[in-house]
Amino acid sequence: MKNFITFEGCDGVGKSFQINLLKDYCKKHSLNNVVFTREPGGSVVAEKIRDIILDAKNDSITDLCEAFLYSASRAQHVEEKILPALKAGKTVICDRFVDSSYVYQGVGRGLGLEKVVALNAIAVGECMPQYTVFLDLPPKQAFLRKGGVDKADRLEIADISFHEALYDAYKQLIKTYPERFIVIDASGTIAETHEKIIRALTLRNVL
Ligand SMILES: Nc1ncnc2c1ncn2[C@@H]1O[C@H](COP(=O)(O)OP(=O)(O)O)[C@@H](O)[C@H]1O
Ligand SMILES: [Mg+2]
Repeated sequence: MKNFITFEGCDGVGKSFQINLLKDYCKKHSLNNVVFTREPGGSVVAEKIRDIILDAKNDSITDLCEAFLYSASRAQHVEEKILPALKAGKTVICDRFVDSSYVYQGVGRGLGLEKVVALNAIAVGECMPQYTVFLDLPPKQAFLRKGGVDKADRLEIADISFHEALYDAYKQLIKTYPERFIVIDASGTIAETHEKIIRALTLRNVL
């Protein structure tokens, strides 16, 4: 949908950080038409669903159940917040969306991309992003950034390879949806990445 923008990328690449910078940029330039959100998007129902997913007591949740819960929460977020904003002529920027489920539930949990794509298609309907900004940084570098060298060194090999599989899955999605994805090299400084994002979004008339 026009003017619906999502941000994706591996854990720790700086999505939330960059979205906050973008928020400041919009404020500074009086771009009051932009709405920022992230799942569960402040929706009471979506938040309750999220609580079920994140509650450590619910360790019996199956992978398929988890995938349904994420898409259920997303369906609520879309109808309650994203669509009304888009219909009111606003630009909506969302921190993570369907692609995160594609890679985490579809590939990470091994449910298969097809199943998770189908589930999410029911959940979001026409409300697919016009553009998805992919902050491109391999997981190892993102981990170093987040926890410092020591933490990254101590990470289980299995953990790194899990995230590397997610990164590869993102790369595959970019090949499948080349018109939707805007790939931004996120290996530079915070300011450099911010500049790249502003340039890319301005070029496409999003800002
Ligand atoms: N370009 C960068 N260079 C160095 N550190 C960064 C950069 N971008 C983000 N960080 C740091 O990396 C950490 C993770 O950023 P965050 O925005 O929480 O990532 P995400 O939301 O993608 O998981 C934060 O501590 C942030 O300050
Ligand atoms: Mg984040």
